[in-house]
Amino acid sequence: MNRTVLLIFLWIPFLVFSQSPTKFTGFHPGADWLADDGKVIDCHGGNIIYVDSLKTYYWYGEHRGEPRGASCYSSKDLYNWKNEGVVIEKDTIETFERPKVIYDSKNDRYVMWFHYDGNRYQIAELGVAVSKSPTGPFELKDHFRPNGHESRDIGMYIDPKTKKAYIGYAADHTNRTIRMVALADDYLSLTENDVDINAHCEGPGILKYRDTYFLLTSGCSGWKPNPATYYTATNIMGPYSSHGSPFINDLENNSFNSQPCYIFKVPGFKDAYIYMADRWNGGGHPDSQYVFLPIFITESGKMELRWYDEWNLSIFNRN
Ligand code: DGJ
Repeated sequence: MNRTVLLIFLWIPFLVFSQSPTKFTGFHPGADWLADDGKVIDCHGGNIIYVDSLKTYYWYGEHRGEPRGASCYSSKDLYNWKNEGVVIEKDTIETFERPKVIYDSKNDRYVMWFHYDGNRYQIAELGVAVSKSPTGPFELKDHFRPNGHESRDIGMYIDPKTKKAYIGYAADHTNRTIRMVALADDYLSLTENDVDINAHCEGPGILKYRDTYFLLTSGCSGWKPNPATYYTATNIMGPYSSHGSPFINDLENNSFNSQPCYIFKVPGFKDAYIYMADRWNGGGHPDSQYVFLPIFITESGKMELRWYDEWNLSIFNRN
């Protein structure tokens, strides 16, 4: 065997085993979802951003295995994810939940907001951390109660045109309602524009369709699923009206056994919204599954979600 043939021969196993173990071509709601490292994705209660300059999606969420904190996964297609590791460890923070990351284009940095708390959810604050790179490390900058209100689960919305950002947070007396607060332009602090949306209770996700804002929230039942409710408004700060559950044929009336964490608008498609949710299975486990489903708004302005065992982005129309 000559030298070149021998070298090719030695490279074959490396090329085979360095490929990701699974090549997904779609979403499989409720199934175990493996990353490039062959392990189940551990990235709960979080959000996805698309970084145009890197042509890459980044998914952030709670890393519920060790070390606890926030994890990051990257992808080119939303189906196959590379584990980028833990981008901030919770360190001495007792409860670190529901991280959401936004890109601050003015300062070219990534800002993470999250639920900062004690072990009995009694501190009820927002935490904010920052990083120069999408894959971290994020550095904790501050933590506080927004305008003096208790804050637990959070959702985020960024207006694509004005770049104004908002946090919807489960507030007051163990999550009696959702409040909406506008961020300051630096994304690191809040304004006093902070209103009671009068919505139940946790897991807020927000989308804008034409001139209407849709807010989707779960009820408040710990790690057990419950029926979600959606609300609409023509101003993100409200007033909102309630429309009940958007889930169609949800036989157990529990949001297909899931709790929302974010609504991701997929770039490059028309009105393409992905419901991101956790299937906690009674506790916040590292291997709790995800339920990603397409969200549709009907001609008459109703939000609808249907179950699919498997689906992909071809369900949406391209721009
Ligand atoms: C429901 C919340 O949505 C979760 O993020 C978590 O805080 C659990 N409650 C804890 O019971």
